[in-house]
Amino acid sequence: MHVVLYLAVLPILGSCSGVQSALDPAGEEARQVATLFWVMTVGSGAIWGIVVALALYASRRKRRPVSEETAGKLIFWAGVVFPVTVLTALLAFALWLMPTLRPFAFGDFARLRVEVVGNQFWWRVVYHLPDGKRVVSANEVRLPVGERVEFSLTSADMIHSFWIPALGGKMDLIPGRVNRLSLLATEAGIYRGQCAEFCGVAHALMAFPVFVMEPTDFNEWLNARTTPSAGVEADARGRDLFLGRDCGTCHRIDGTQAQGSSGPDLSHIGSRLTLGAGQVKNDPDALGRFIAHSSAIKPGSMMPAYLDLPEDDIAAMAFWLKGLQ
Ligand code: CUA
Repeated sequence: MHVVLYLAVLPILGSCSGVQSALDPAGEEARQVATLFWVMTVGSGAIWGIVVALALYASRRKRRPVSEETAGKLIFWAGVVFPVTVLTALLAFALWLMPTLRPFAFGDFARLRVEVVGNQFWWRVVYHLPDGKRVVSANEVRLPVGERVEFSLTSADMIHSFWIPALGGKMDLIPGRVNRLSLLATEAGIYRGQCAEFCGVAHALMAFPVFVMEPTDFNEWLNARTTPSAGVEADARGRDLFLGRDCGTCHRIDGTQAQGSSGPDLSHIGSRLTLGAGQVKNDPDALGRFIAHSSAIKPGSMMPAYLDLPEDDIAAMAFWLKGLQ
């Protein structure tokens, strides 16, 4: 019996931690959501226990009927005052957790604004620096620890939902509308975000790593991305193949003629952790496989297959892309 109980509880407890758990908070908003969860879980558990105990007591022990006055008092206090108080307090707490109802204005103190655009099935991520510069990236979010960051969220096609459980509550990305979300990460580390609104065949494959970095590391990382990668000039063969196959019609690479915007921006792609929005580890082998047949790694990918390309051409392109650090 104990073993069965243990096996049943283990996966439940296991889901309380990890890179994508709202119950293992690493940010201010996530901590509040987790607090609300525990308050509601413990509170409703206690209320349930009391109600069950009273029901058992009434059915097994108490045989004598109560007076009408006592029954009226019981209904008033336990049936009206108690639930109204508890539910009002919970409602107030939950409303306060809703970002748009918070008693502060966005943008006043957020030094950094990150624009996220949902696409089938990837994320465009644009960092808007205070000096007006823009850094375009994709399928990865980096944030400084201890600094409030404002996200402006929209979509190019379907309704998606931006969710980094370890940092805070989710927010929809809606075509034609900009939603705002403010997050404050409190612990450095690598977390995982996930699209949380069904948006098509690869909805479940629409994830992204989140790096919460020390502010100096973050600024260094961001500054390095305001100029083209040094790798752009290296290995001319891989670059010429990439540009020659018109990859630049859909993809942009800073410092080249590739200026497409219908696919993920590939400037500095070599330094990203994953490919295909969180699907596989980013290395030259995976890059080559993605170029040759992207939908084998990511079903639903809009990128055509290039199975006709010679293997060493693919390897040269993959090698060049991986060098875009
Ligand atoms: Cu995008 Cu689900």
